[in-house]
Amino acid sequence: MGNQNAMKQNGTMPLNPVIIQQQVIEVNEVMPVTITVNDNMEEIADMTEQFSQTIDPILRMYNAAMSATTARLEIIKDEFKYRKARCPIHHIDTRLKSAKSILGKLEKKDLNLTLSAACNNIYDIAGIRVVCPYMKDVYLIRDRILAQDDIHIMEIKDYIENPKPNGYRSLHMVIRVPVYFMNKKQMVPVELQIRTLAMDLWASLEHDIQYKSIKSKVCTEDFSDELRECAKLIYQAEEKMEMMNSMLE
Ligand code: GTP
Ligand code: MG
Repeated sequence: MGNQNAMKQNGTMPLNPVIIQQQVIEVNEVMPVTITVNDNMEEIADMTEQFSQTIDPILRMYNAAMSATTARLEIIKDEFKYRKARCPIHHIDTRLKSAKSILGKLEKKDLNLTLSAACNNIYDIAGIRVVCPYMKDVYLIRDRILAQDDIHIMEIKDYIENPKPNGYRSLHMVIRVPVYFMNKKQMVPVELQIRTLAMDLWASLEHDIQYKSIKSKVCTEDFSDELRECAKLIYQAEEKMEMMNSMLE
């Protein structure tokens, strides 16, 4: 929290990316797990099944964290509605990672296929995407999250200041939010992607095009240059519309 307060006081954001707070999730406190890596395909199928079953209570915990965070964002939305002011949030999308894709990510990262490895290395099990009309709204939402002193900030990556080489822009935050159980309070990681409508347009279509081009047997075209060009055009259009809006507001 110290870093977070320092950030609030001097008003500047740390370099990109930043790890502000790390904390290990004790999965064994939630439930006991013993799953190890194995090459035997039949055993792997069993293990995947076992992983899917045992991860259920863990996924509920992430789902609770996602709902708690969404509720906080809805409160921000409601405040603007009450004040009859333009709302900085256009819409909110949420998704909970499936057991299958958690396993896939663990394999990709070459980690043990255990719940503990999942909870302590995969921070986007609970994912929230906040889509805003304008760029200043993205930072307003970031600041409203930073201002909530029971939320711990684990990581902030600003791909708006520093877009990815392929043209991807968005502000990513990994936060930990408190979830209260009967006998304990657990700080649960949630990944927040905050972006504008224009950024969301590019990212959604780029994702779709990349997905189709991997699957396609007929088209082997590499669209990287075109996608970068689209990112540039969308950014230029967004800047023009931001300018019109700032003249009006
Ligand atoms: P992990 O968090 O381990 O997935 O890797 P990372 O931290 O290097 O990824 P990063 O935080 O940069 O991005 C994670 C998420 O952002 C992805 O799951 C996507 O939802 C989104 N994202 C990142 N890069 C791109 C991109 O080039 N195109 C699109 N469409 N989405 C992206
Ligand atoms: Mg990440």
